[in-house]
Amino acid sequence: MFRVSLLCLMLWVLPWRASAGEGGIATAHPLATAAAESILKQGGNAFDAAVAASAALAVVEPYGSGLGGGGFWLLHRAEDGFEVMLDGRETAPAAASRDMYLDDKGEVIPNASMNGPLAAGIPGVPAALDHLAKHYGKLPLKTSLQPAIRLAREGFPVDREMRRYMGFRLELLRQFPNTAEILLDKGDIPAEGQVLKQPDLAHTLQAIAEQGRDGFYKGKVAQQMVDTVKASGGIWSLDDLSGYQVKERQPVHSEYQGLKVTSAALPSSGGIVLGEILNMLSKWDLSKLDQAQQVHLLAETMRRAYRDRAEFLGDSDFVEVDQRRLLSAAYADELSAAIQLDKATPSASLKAVAAEGQKGMDTTHFSILDKQGNRVAATLSINYPFGSGFTAQGTGVLLNNEMDDFSIRPGTPNAYGLVGAEANAIAAGKRMLSSMTPTFLEDEQRLAIVGSPGGSRIITMVLQATLAFAEGKGAADMVNKPRIHHQYLPDSIQFEPQALSVQTQQQLQDLGHELSPKQQPWGNMQAVILDKRSGVVDAASDQRGIGQAVSIVY
Ligand code: DON
Repeated sequence: MFRVSLLCLMLWVLPWRASAGEGGIATAHPLATAAAESILKQGGNAFDAAVAASAALAVVEPYGSGLGGGGFWLLHRAEDGFEVMLDGRETAPAAASRDMYLDDKGEVIPNASMNGPLAAGIPGVPAALDHLAKHYGKLPLKTSLQPAIRLAREGFPVDREMRRYMGFRLELLRQFPNTAEILLDKGDIPAEGQVLKQPDLAHTLQAIAEQGRDGFYKGKVAQQMVDTVKASGGIWSLDDLSGYQVKERQPVHSEYQGLKVTSAALPSSGGIVLGEILNMLSKWDLSKLDQAQQVHLLAETMRRAYRDRAEFLGDSDFVEVDQRRLLSAAYADELSAAIQLDKATPSASLKAVAAEGQKGMDTTHFSILDKQGNRVAATLSINYPFGSGFTAQGTGVLLNNEMDDFSIRPGTPNAYGLVGAEANAIAAGKRMLSSMTPTFLEDEQRLAIVGSPGGSRIITMVLQATLAFAEGKGAADMVNKPRIHHQYLPDSIQFEPQALSVQTQQQLQDLGHELSPKQQPWGNMQAVILDKRSGVVDAASDQRGIGQAVSIVY
């Protein structure tokens, strides 16, 4: 209350602050928010703060992201409006091949793409942080990495979220002694509040601080990673590491009711799938429909866009994707013409591929706005909680299991139940298709920086946040709203507790939908909104997680 009135007073006295003065940070962990805030206060811009947040999250949220993983950083530079997506997605090692997770009979080898170093792609995070600092930041990497180095060296208290994820993957963590030694307490989940130190990780961060990307992709750290990966059945080489390239991608643009949507490019499917759904939804006025009709339309549009994801999308450096067509009004007309308001379309009638899904929760998203108006929406991942479970000896680097995001066999679902085809087949050097959807939303009056973890459900979460923003909702409503999801296969509407009334559930079943109520909520959305006229920032961290959002005047 006090803060609001103080701000009003400041705005009244200093009306020119409308375009500068307030910044906002929302991340999945209070210590990462604090790291980003300290860098802004030291004179860094949003890009430096993003380096600090990414690195801090690598330390305090080892289940979600890390130096051994990848991610996408969507950037907006205030001085010239330049926008780009930094693609630090993992790549398949050169020795990877299309059928590497299949046995002689063509059957999937259980867990091969999920656990252990064979599941790990070549990490992109360290190279992306170096790139971000060099090309967009104001501070040296050394300064922006400082908070993370301290957290790794001095430790931080284990929190309930960490304990929960450890419980979920305890067997895996116990399987790899290097990992168990760092994260577990004599093989068990450490108590809440116990201080977790990661000295090897601090050294690796220090090497990056001093040598930039070479501190990770060349020299001692690289050698240690390759040696231990190979000794445990992995296929990384020193050339894979030294050859890793960050890519600058043009973001995907779409529009919904006058709202400009800027989102993730391939190799994330996020921007295209989100755009396709919004284009289809534009044919209706959702505000005139009741809840069941709205959810029906969401499910019908989601199923069609996810069908296209399965069939057409993959790394655009390897496969041709006709993005123009998929995002055209004509294509949206064609797809939406087949949607019936009084009947669900069975996914099998769109294209039959058998799939069964499971759920997973990890990855991380943060949103940052600085007082100059620079913006970062970043979603980072090591894929499943604690990734492959494998830590490269002596480096503290926990490796991802992002290889599972490839289609390991056409029609075989990945850990998130997503199916894929040739476009997302494994090939040396290729990036696996992602659903991570860091996004900017903007209309005349406001802009939002938003995103979430949540595997296949990320895109539909960002979609529902977009619809909430279009209705004029604030950051807390965007991130906390109960969610529904459809992903073509499995052919059912998933929904969080409290998302649908009993009556709506009945109406949806009457339309022919299968319902799949979920006991656990999903996602961990972080949003920062700027009111362009008043300059006031509204930031929120998903109440499903333990994150922290702050708006700061500095
Ligand atoms: O890139 C992707 O789409 C996945 N590896 C993201 C995984 C994820 O969000 C897990 N969190 N629930």
